[in-house]
Amino acid sequence: MCGIVGCVLDKKVAPTILKSIKKLEYRGYDSIGIATVTDTINVKKGQGKIDEVDSKLDFEDMGGNIGIAHVRWATHGNPTKENSHPHCDCNNNISVVHNGIIENYKDLRKELMDEGHQFKSETDTEVIPHLIEKYLDEGLEYLEAVQTTIKRLNGSYALAILNKDMPDTLIGVRNESPLIVGVSDNGNYVASDVPAILNETNKVIYLKDKEIIRLTKDNVEVMNLDLEPIEKEVTKITWSPDRAEKGGYDHFMIKEIYEEPQVIKDTLSEAEKIKDIVGKFKKFNRICFVACGTSYHASLVGEYLIESQTGIPTEVMLASEFDYFQNTIDEDTLIIFITQSGETADTIKALKKIKNKAETLAIVNVVGSTITREADHVIYTRAGPEISVAATKTYISQLVCIYLLVAYLNEDEELIEKLYSISKLSEQLLDNEEHIQEIAKKYKDANNFFYVGRGFNYPTALEGALKLKEITYIHGEGYPAGELKHGPLALLDENIPVVGILPPGPSYNKTFNNLEEIKARGANLILLCANDDTQVDGMGDTLRFNPIIDEELAPLLYIIDLQFLAYYISIERGIDPDKPKNLAKSVTVE
Ligand code: M6R
Repeated sequence: MCGIVGCVLDKKVAPTILKSIKKLEYRGYDSIGIATVTDTINVKKGQGKIDEVDSKLDFEDMGGNIGIAHVRWATHGNPTKENSHPHCDCNNNISVVHNGIIENYKDLRKELMDEGHQFKSETDTEVIPHLIEKYLDEGLEYLEAVQTTIKRLNGSYALAILNKDMPDTLIGVRNESPLIVGVSDNGNYVASDVPAILNETNKVIYLKDKEIIRLTKDNVEVMNLDLEPIEKEVTKITWSPDRAEKGGYDHFMIKEIYEEPQVIKDTLSEAEKIKDIVGKFKKFNRICFVACGTSYHASLVGEYLIESQTGIPTEVMLASEFDYFQNTIDEDTLIIFITQSGETADTIKALKKIKNKAETLAIVNVVGSTITREADHVIYTRAGPEISVAATKTYISQLVCIYLLVAYLNEDEELIEKLYSISKLSEQLLDNEEHIQEIAKKYKDANNFFYVGRGFNYPTALEGALKLKEITYIHGEGYPAGELKHGPLALLDENIPVVGILPPGPSYNKTFNNLEEIKARGANLILLCANDDTQVDGMGDTLRFNPIIDEELAPLLYIIDLQFLAYYISIERGIDPDKPKNLAKSVTVE
């Protein structure tokens, strides 16, 4: 996920474009770059947050009434100045900012390099200005050169494009990445998201995939891929700027939960890279995961999966406890470090300690973060920036990477197919939201919760309980369903709600019996089960799921409802779920 803005105005563009791109910093903060057109294309760009780079480069000083800007969340190539957008063609005539991933960029890059084009970055984006240059050199009109370029791209893209020789025209394109148009009396805009332009105009045109726009100061034209004009409606935005930044949601957490179906899809696009990495592993006879918090819970799902599917002995260590167990690690162990931030001090310290002793793999969301420089192999989750302190979409993307890893370790094609079907099913899950709001109202005043599950879904219970603690300040305890009878049953009464995770599968009957024991002690049950499950009728509140998801894949979906549950209890208790007290997004101390 990156943020892009472009404007054509009746005045110098730099101050406005800088203000606008700052509103998209939540979409990426590795680097910033701006290009404007005067009698040439002027580009200023650098690595770091917007204010840091601005204090060195002084963006407002740039001349020109037309410009494009970009904040980057790195996907291809480290967050360096060279990889920052905008990217230009060989002669600096075309300049492009891009949000998305060009899947066939390697082939295109090779073709262009063979034809003599010179590349300056490692990005997938840079093929775009070079392709436009190529087609202009072949004699096509500008718009046709862009059209021909787009037809050669596979993947997702929102683009804003400048041409030195057409200094009053900005072209934008959208395909599977967001792009909106802002319309005003003083000029026109494109942007990844509404907050970028809300200070300038509240009149917006929403684009669909494969639509092209041509903007001048006084005119907006929308076309299809055949360059035929399309009539579009102008919508008036009534959100406040703060709400707009959250995509119309009240909090980042709920916005990030809603992004989960897309995140599953994006992370599945890493399948080939994960397959390559699995092919490069040395021989190992044991796997060890090291992580903290939510990433630790994702690791536990990994342990259940790897042991049951591949038979490779696997264990999970908390990074902060790693010191006490590291003596058993040897060169036949593969160690997998999971961390969304890539900056967690406990996890990095564990990696540094062991890196020369065993083969290491990091599963991480932030490209270029510290851990990516220390591990032998890196797999990127594709969750985009996560702003809310509570991890939601990054957990889902970690799980997708783990399932893919297991599928390739085990050469299990069927599992890969099931993962693709999950990305569609996850959209249905968002349908339980209203019912979860009612359950949240009912239990908002409880002081303690239990979450119970078995096998693959014991980690789901732990993660559900962690979400509850983190953002509602209610004590939540995750437990293996079969373990309550060995002690905690003594605590149960009608004041303690118990969340039972009960997907269909081999563990169903045993878990069901445990839940009956719990019910018999007077506790109120909230049950997560398949929507054709009639055994649970009358046992408590139910949250229903598609029956084809059995216990092996349930961790990917059932957690979404538990994230919603924690979110709505937090709202009921008047807490800001995005900024829970005493916690930070990235924990850089041991
Ligand atoms: O960045 P990491 O994944 O290494 O962070 C580890 C934990 O600090 C993190 O998962 C924490 O538990 C989350 N805030 C939970 O929502």
